[in-house]
Amino acid sequence: MIENKQHNKSVNLWQSAIRDAVDKTKSNILLHEKQFPHITSEKKYSWGENTDWIEGFYTGMVWLCYEYTKDPFFSKSAMEHVDSFRDRLAANRYMDHHDIGFLFLPSAFAAWTLLRDESSRKLALEAADHLLLRWRTEGQYIQAWGPKGDKDNGGRIIIDCMMNIPLLYWASDQTGESKYAEIAGKHADLSRRYLMRGDDSSYHTFYFDPADGSPIRGGTHQGYQDGSTWTRGQAWAIYGFALSYRYTGNPSYLDTARRAAHYFIRRIPEDGVVYWDFDAPVNGNTPRDSSASAIAACGMIEIASHLVQDDPDREFFMDAASRSMASLVEHYSTVEDSHAEGLLRHGSYHVRGNLGPDDFMIWGDYYYLEALLRLEKGIPGYWYERT
Ligand code: GLY
Repeated sequence: MIENKQHNKSVNLWQSAIRDAVDKTKSNILLHEKQFPHITSEKKYSWGENTDWIEGFYTGMVWLCYEYTKDPFFSKSAMEHVDSFRDRLAANRYMDHHDIGFLFLPSAFAAWTLLRDESSRKLALEAADHLLLRWRTEGQYIQAWGPKGDKDNGGRIIIDCMMNIPLLYWASDQTGESKYAEIAGKHADLSRRYLMRGDDSSYHTFYFDPADGSPIRGGTHQGYQDGSTWTRGQAWAIYGFALSYRYTGNPSYLDTARRAAHYFIRRIPEDGVVYWDFDAPVNGNTPRDSSASAIAACGMIEIASHLVQDDPDREFFMDAASRSMASLVEHYSTVEDSHAEGLLRHGSYHVRGNLGPDDFMIWGDYYYLEALLRLEKGIPGYWYERT
């Protein structure tokens, strides 16, 4: 149990960090209007069009700010973003990948969640239909990247997709059509079988023969090496399987999420924030991935919400999430720097590719704010309908 003194300290910490996030988000909107933050370089976001897999996170932050403040400045801005997502889907622009959940849940689905805006609900459902186009019947998986038949990626799944399939479960709940949830469930089962390993670590990616779905091998794209455990991938597994459990009630998903979380917690370094890969050699220059710690914190809080009061993991996960968040606020955030555009320093995008190896990551900012709001207000982000 978090002791009272520690708890009060945390509450103040969370509140001041949330206030800072709200102020920075407002100033970003005023400065950059309808533009979206892209991958950073040199500690600054570059701002531009809605063209990558990451834009939904910024919109999600704007919605979180609205939910916290009820200031219509934020809902107006977020709805302008939703229009941009509507245009993007209608024009089929930069849509040939599986990150449709990351784009449309914290944007269109959030608008439905918070404002009960019917056109946003329809948009999220259209996005779910679009995600179904990635389903490969022959192989029985959702293809992550590239067009059907792609030489390198045609048979490839990735762990990140566990965060995209909530859009499909939700679409079944909304429409009464089982096809979305059936595909999501098949993909989750396959991910559990092949992306998760016997020691509860994860592959980033797995290859199948696209002709018949026979398994070939695990590998990585953004991790240290093929057999290593990319920390953000492990965080996607924690949160993603917890969400599959929420939608389906299938206890094997909760079990996988718990195991993945234990694996993650066992490897958190002294200061509470993980390096970019659990198997990367650690020296004074090894990049952290603060975003992985923020995602994992959200996932652990989500898991804890499904555990009975006297399950020891409930307190264990809440404690681990709170400790990591306290370290993020105190040592990784920009709370002390009112000029910074990002909230969380020392995230990593693709270290080996030298893309954002140590910088702000907009998804890191989003999950950091989601975790703060989960801890402070019980606001759970935009991955499922509120009850
Ligand atoms: N989904 C891509 C990443 O986590 O970098």
